[in-house]
Amino acid sequence: MARILITSAIPYINGIKHLGNLIGSQLPADLYARYQRGRGNEVMFLCATDEHGTPAELAAAKADKPVAEYCADMYAVQADIAKRFGLSFDHFGRSSSEQNKRLTQHFAGKLDEAGLIREVSEKQVYSNADGRFLPDRYIEGTCPNCGYERARGDQCENCTKQLDPTDLIEPRSAISGSTDLEVRETKHLYLRQSAMKDELDAWIDSKTDWPILTTSIAKKWLHDGDGLQDRGITRDLDWGVPVKKGDQDWPGMEGKVFYVWFDAPIEYIACAKEWADANGKTDSDWERWWRTDKGADDVRYVQFMGKDNVPFHTLSFPATILGSGEPWKMVDHLKSFNYLNYDGGQFSTSQGRGVFMDQALEILPADYWRWWLLSHAPESSDSEFTWENFQQSVNKDLADVLGNFVSRITKFCRSKFGEAVPEGGSYGERELTLIEELTKRVRAYEGHMEAMEVRKSAQELRAIWVAGNEYLQAAAPWSTFKEDPEQAAAQVRLGLNLIRLYAVLSAPFIPETSAKMLSAMNTLDTNWPDDVAASLEALPAAHEFTVPDVLFAKVTDEQREDWQTRFAGTRA
Ligand code: 2FM
Ligand code: ZN
Repeated sequence: MARILITSAIPYINGIKHLGNLIGSQLPADLYARYQRGRGNEVMFLCATDEHGTPAELAAAKADKPVAEYCADMYAVQADIAKRFGLSFDHFGRSSSEQNKRLTQHFAGKLDEAGLIREVSEKQVYSNADGRFLPDRYIEGTCPNCGYERARGDQCENCTKQLDPTDLIEPRSAISGSTDLEVRETKHLYLRQSAMKDELDAWIDSKTDWPILTTSIAKKWLHDGDGLQDRGITRDLDWGVPVKKGDQDWPGMEGKVFYVWFDAPIEYIACAKEWADANGKTDSDWERWWRTDKGADDVRYVQFMGKDNVPFHTLSFPATILGSGEPWKMVDHLKSFNYLNYDGGQFSTSQGRGVFMDQALEILPADYWRWWLLSHAPESSDSEFTWENFQQSVNKDLADVLGNFVSRITKFCRSKFGEAVPEGGSYGERELTLIEELTKRVRAYEGHMEAMEVRKSAQELRAIWVAGNEYLQAAAPWSTFKEDPEQAAAQVRLGLNLIRLYAVLSAPFIPETSAKMLSAMNTLDTNWPDDVAASLEALPAAHEFTVPDVLFAKVTDEQREDWQTRFAGTRA
C-alpha cells in the first residue's frame, strides 16, 4: 500500500469560489485522492482557507464585519459548499489556525538562525487619516501608464501594468479616500532566496518528470534578469500571523505580520496537525506524513494548483522548507492548470461573472458539474465553459450513455427475470471480446489517472461506458430472450455486473451517482477491477437489486437559455 499526500492550493477566504477556481485545483485534487483511495492506497488529502492578507481585510470591511468574524463565517460557508461538491478532504483547515501561527513563527525562527533573513528599511505610504501604513491594494490612484483613475497600488486593472504604490498619480487611501498620505520609513524582513538559488536550481533539475509548464515558470524566475530575488515576508497589517522568531519577540517588528504568501503554504503542513488535533490523534500521526525523519520518506507528495501559483510552490515555499534545515517532506509532483474561461470572457469574482459554486448546486447536483469540469479541465491550454457545451456533455455522456445503460438493463431485467441477477447461460464470443476491450481500457484509464491526465482519464472512462452501451445494443437481450432466454440471462447478468464495475471506476468523477449505482446493485463491494473478468462475476446469480431512479436528467433548451441569461450579468 502506497502512502500519498495530496494538497490543493488553498482558496482565499474572500467569497465563494467560481467554477474556474474549482477546476484549477480542488476538484482535480479530489479526483486523484478518490482514485488513490479506490486503489487501496493510504491517502492524506488536505486543503484549507487562505485567510490572511489584504483581500481578507478588504472583504471583511465590505461585509462590515470584524475580519476574524468574517473569516469564521466564510470558512463555514466554504466548508459546507466543498462538502456538497463531494470534495473529500481528510481535513479542511484554516490558515489562521493556532497551529499555523506557531509553525509559521517556527519557520521564521529557523530561517533566521540559518542567516537567511535580512532586515530592510523601506519607504512606504502612510495614511495620516487612517493612522496606518497602506500596503498594495489599499492605495488607489491614476495609472502612470494608461491614465486609468482607479488603478491599485499593486497593479492597474485596466492595462495590467504592475505598479508600486509610489508610482500612482494622485494617490488616495482605498479605506477612507483620504489624500493625506506621506511616505515613511518602515522595517521589513526579507527571505534571502538569492542565497538558496543554486540549491533550488539543483532541486528543480532533479524533477525530470515535471510538466514543462511547471519547470519553465520556475526556471524563468531563477534565471531571468538578475535571477532569483530576495522576497519581503512581512507586512504592516493588523490581520495575520504576528512576526516572531519561534515564540520569541522580534525586536523592531512589533505590530507587523507575515506576508500572506509566507504563511499560506505552511498551512499545508499545519493543516495536518489541525487534522490530528481535531481527531484525537498524536503528533506522530501527522508527522509521519510530513517529516522525513518520522516516516514521511516513503510518502509521495502531490500538489495541485493554477499556473499563477506555480512560482510560490516551486521557489518560495521550497526555499522556506530547505532554508529551515529541517527534514520536512518536499513536493514530488506538481500538477498545474491553465484557466477556465466563461462564455466568451473570464470568470470574475469582482464582477460576479460566471457560475459560482453555490449557484451551480442550486440548479444541478454536483456530479453534473464535476463531470463537465473534469472532462474539460484546462490542462494543455485554457478552456472555456459554454452552456451549449455543458448541455451537450450532460445529455450525451451522462444521460444517453451512462444513465441510459443503467436504466435499460435494470428495467429489462425486472420485466423478464425480476429484480435479481438471472442465472443460466454462459458468456460467448461477444462477451469475451467486450471483456478484452474493457481490460485494455481499464489499464489505460489507470495509466492516465496515475499520470494525473484528467481529460484523458475522462475520455477513457467515457469509452468504457460506451463499450457497455454498444455491447447491449449488439447483444440485444430483448431480442435474444425470445429464442434463447438462457443466453439473454447471461447477457443481463453481465450488464448488471457492468453497473457495479462502472460505479467503482466512475466514483472519482461522479461519487454521488456511483453511490446510487452501488446501492441499486445492493452491494458494498467496491473492489478495484484488477482482473476485469473476475470483477464481472462479483454479483452472482440470484443477487437482488433494485431499479434506480433516473440517474441524470437531460438539460432542456429552455433551461439552458434560462441559465445563460441568469448568469450573464453581475452576481447580486
Ligand atoms: O491563489 C490562491 O487562491 C491562493 N490562495 C493559493 C494559496 S496556495 C498555498 F500556497 F497556500
Ligand atoms: Zn494602466
